[in-house]
Amino acid sequence: MESSTREDVVEQVRAAVDIADLIGSYVTLRPAGRNLKACCPFHKEKTPSFVVSPERQLFHCFGCGAGGDVFTFVMKQEGLEFPEALELLARRAGIELPERRRAEGPDRNALLAAMRAAVRFYRGKLRASEGEGARRYLQSRGFPGAIVDRFYAGFAPGGGDAFLRFAQRDFSREVLVQAGLVGRSEGGRLYDRFRARVVLPILSVTGDPIGFGARTLQAEVQPKYLNSPETPIYKKSRVLFGLPQARGAIREAGEALVVEGYFDVLALASAGIDHAVAPCGTAWTAEHARLLLRQTQRILLLFDGDAAGEAAAWRALAATLPLHPDLGVVMLPEGQDPDDLIRGGEIDRLRERIARPLSPVAFALLTLGRQGLDGHMLLARVAELLASVGNGIAREMMLDEAAERSRMPVRILRREVERLRSGAAGRRPTSGTDGGSDAAERRRARLAPLEEAMLRLALAQPASAQPLQEAAGGVPAVSGSVQAVLAWLADRSRAGSAPQTPELLRRLRDEIGEQIDASFLVDEDLPVPDERFREALLRRLAEGALEAEMVGLGYEIRMQEGQGAAASELVELLARKQKLAKQLAQLRETRPEDAG
Ligand code: UTP
Ligand code: MN
Repeated sequence: MESSTREDVVEQVRAAVDIADLIGSYVTLRPAGRNLKACCPFHKEKTPSFVVSPERQLFHCFGCGAGGDVFTFVMKQEGLEFPEALELLARRAGIELPERRRAEGPDRNALLAAMRAAVRFYRGKLRASEGEGARRYLQSRGFPGAIVDRFYAGFAPGGGDAFLRFAQRDFSREVLVQAGLVGRSEGGRLYDRFRARVVLPILSVTGDPIGFGARTLQAEVQPKYLNSPETPIYKKSRVLFGLPQARGAIREAGEALVVEGYFDVLALASAGIDHAVAPCGTAWTAEHARLLLRQTQRILLLFDGDAAGEAAAWRALAATLPLHPDLGVVMLPEGQDPDDLIRGGEIDRLRERIARPLSPVAFALLTLGRQGLDGHMLLARVAELLASVGNGIAREMMLDEAAERSRMPVRILRREVERLRSGAAGRRPTSGTDGGSDAAERRRARLAPLEEAMLRLALAQPASAQPLQEAAGGVPAVSGSVQAVLAWLADRSRAGSAPQTPELLRRLRDEIGEQIDASFLVDEDLPVPDERFREALLRRLAEGALEAEMVGLGYEIRMQEGQGAAASELVELLARKQKLAKQLAQLRETRPEDAG
């Protein structure tokens, strides 16, 4: 419409919100002449240097230099972008914003209203008699009522259309379907998407419910978590579970924790650790990092203590380091996630680890060492990580740290990092113009045979994707990209949807690049993988994981020795190594001859 409409509304909101009222709801303001004064909410101080001028509707801090109007204040205070700040202040002032998009289908406000109604409905059901099983489940997970309330947990009853019947009095079917709350079967029948599950609303940065993560109450039911689909109001890459609840604690702690799962966030909050957030059923991306970096300058990755968690931490580092270097990785004991530690009564141990995270370099060296990498292989992986660091000073410091910890000559490391950085800038644009598609080039670009075999199997038998992904977690020969593709395939197959070919190819190409063309689009009439193929492959991966773990333990033993660890700890490590050696020997003994 007219270009002035939006500006009008901004002015309308500005006029309707008094800066003294607004800021007064965050800090205590005291009169000082024509102005008001307070201790600055944006930096630590004992004597007030933060001044608010009701006359001019501006604020300024003489301590840290922060200043601006009502919009600047909420943007800074709540970590919002302008449109979100506008939305928040408009809501506070009771002003309705004109629709941003004029797309067909229900508008944002209708979808948001339906989501709010869903939260109310599910919370009511949790308190009702039918919610008893869910209440007991939440209790058994150790979540006090205050945490259940803080995260607005609810219960979606079984049955099939309880929510639909409730909601269709107020909302059109189109709205309910578009909001992802209701599904439509092939025959056109409508049904509740979430049934017999504990539901956790996912809140936008402005605190509106925009999606749900829903956990089954029973161990056997798949998928364990059913997530809302993406909708016009819900984009998974632009939201973090628990962020609105964690915001204050993040500011206080000066850092944010990133965990893998919804329930990890709840478990940590139950233990009084309130500054954790999680992505919503997807991997950590640069977009998530950007969102979180509006709240804090320091991010700690607290991923599960298993191969998948380690691979996820690597990917998260690679996604975040180009933007921001101040990261830490908290390593958890083998096989444990934060929730396990808390339920095992080891909150103090967890706190200790959070207080002393590994630097990205220390994490990289430890995990690569565990995978048995050394020499130029180690150098290559470390250099790749360092080359991804966007900030030049931080990169230089990490170079020094890596050289010192690994005893690699810093000169060699730096040369490799520089080579990678100049290559990254110059490589892409040339493809397509020269002879890049010639056969020798393609062969070089192919995936490793083991990786190819895994993808062939996962594509032929979608149900194999998950066991393959699990088995591949600890195997250094399987690259992060192939692991990511397997994780995605496993996800799709868990959700019961067969990957459609165009989407699959796009996804594969995103992750693995042109290698995929070389490996799969060159038809070689390969036989369809059968059960024997599957078994041999899983066995090979299991062996690979055990071997890597053994080498890793050896590395850890050397590190511990170097740091003068207690004898009992070393004995424990050595015993674990022996046990692994025995497992490996057994596995090899039972190997059928033809699988080698
Ligand atoms: P986990 O399986 O580690 O979940 O998956 P969790 O949080 O530890 O669950 P509990 O403790 O067994 O209840 C981590 C995250 O991966 C996504 C969810 O976001 C989950 O929180 N996930 C997992 C899904 O989206 N679907 C699934 O079927 C499983
Ligand atoms: Mn977990």
